[in-house]
Amino acid sequence: MADVSIRDLVVEYTSGGYVVRPIDGLDVRAGDGELVLLLGASGCGKTTLLSALAGILQPAAGTITVDGTSVTELSGAGLTEYRRHQVGIVFQAFNLIPSLTAAENVALPLLATGRGRRASLDRARQILDQVDLTNRVDHRPGDLSGGQQQRVAIARALALEPPLLLADEPTAHLDYIQVEGVIRLLRALAREGRTIIVATHDDRLLPLADQVVELSPRPPEVVDGRIVAMNDGEILFGQGETGDLVYVVEQGVIELTRERQDAVPEVIARVVAGQYFGELAPLFGLRRSATACAVGPTTVRGCSPTEFRASMGRHAINDLIADHSTGG
Ligand SMILES: Nc1ncnc2c1ncn2[C@@H]1O[C@H](COP(=O)(O)OP(=O)(O)OP(=O)(O)O)[C@@H](O)[C@H]1O
Ligand SMILES: [Mg+2]
Repeated sequence: MADVSIRDLVVEYTSGGYVVRPIDGLDVRAGDGELVLLLGASGCGKTTLLSALAGILQPAAGTITVDGTSVTELSGAGLTEYRRHQVGIVFQAFNLIPSLTAAENVALPLLATGRGRRASLDRARQILDQVDLTNRVDHRPGDLSGGQQQRVAIARALALEPPLLLADEPTAHLDYIQVEGVIRLLRALAREGRTIIVATHDDRLLPLADQVVELSPRPPEVVDGRIVAMNDGEILFGQGETGDLVYVVEQGVIELTRERQDAVPEVIARVVAGQYFGELAPLFGLRRSATACAVGPTTVRGCSPTEFRASMGRHAINDLIADHSTGG
């Protein structure tokens, strides 16, 4: 059986002195036999969550329990045992070894537990049979289609019969016929005694889910003295909002767009490292006159109007009142 419970989970990374917290206070329960989809845009934390579930990444806070095992408290031999027998992982890139046949790839985890070569290969063939690859057991990955390689990867993850199967973007790079095969396989694999959690932004998978967990992109975090680390496409503030900070771009690019009367957005400025934006709203108590969005990974530093005035001097403030192009 596989009962998964995630409570109040927080996972964070520190990168370049900034904290990114893609998972912040997440609660999920997945029952035995359930197929759960983790849905969300790029960068929202799908792979991060799978890594925490797989026991590869230690969360900053919260608990993960799989069949009564508190994964977040495991270490050493207990953690190795969990990773080996409780959870199977299918990675985004199939990670098959190109020089080995399909059967040899699937046999690897079995060999790693000390099982003999012949028994491992026999078992590998049985599993390949289950994923509909009976006629491909002796092919090397390079001679298989993307969908077939994905199924070999799924077979390998199933080799030690883990009750929990995690798949990261299992349909990425597959054409629709291959996708159908993988969808049918995943649906068939979710059954009593096994829970499947799939991360995807492929909404073709939606109809097959018992439960959909939407990981929404988090609003940017203000940490380390109001420094904000943002991902591509992330919005710092929207047109019409109130705001009390002026921002200086430390790294990357911020694009300011303004919605015209005919509702068409118009790019009014691209602000690069060393330049500031968003000064009018906090300085004059106005609403934001544009939406600020990151282009690529971007970090900005927020400062109060007082700090901003102190760093700019009177002269610059007068200049900027004359020039509204830096956008709200
Ligand atoms: N090793 C790392 N160090 C620092 N930040 C990281 C690391 N791994 C991921 N992140 C950040 O954590 C956030 C979530 O990343 P994650 O890979 O979990 O997203 P995802 O939903 O799987 O995205 P995609 O759909 O593109 O695969 C992103 O902002 C990413 O930049
Ligand atoms: Mg990912």
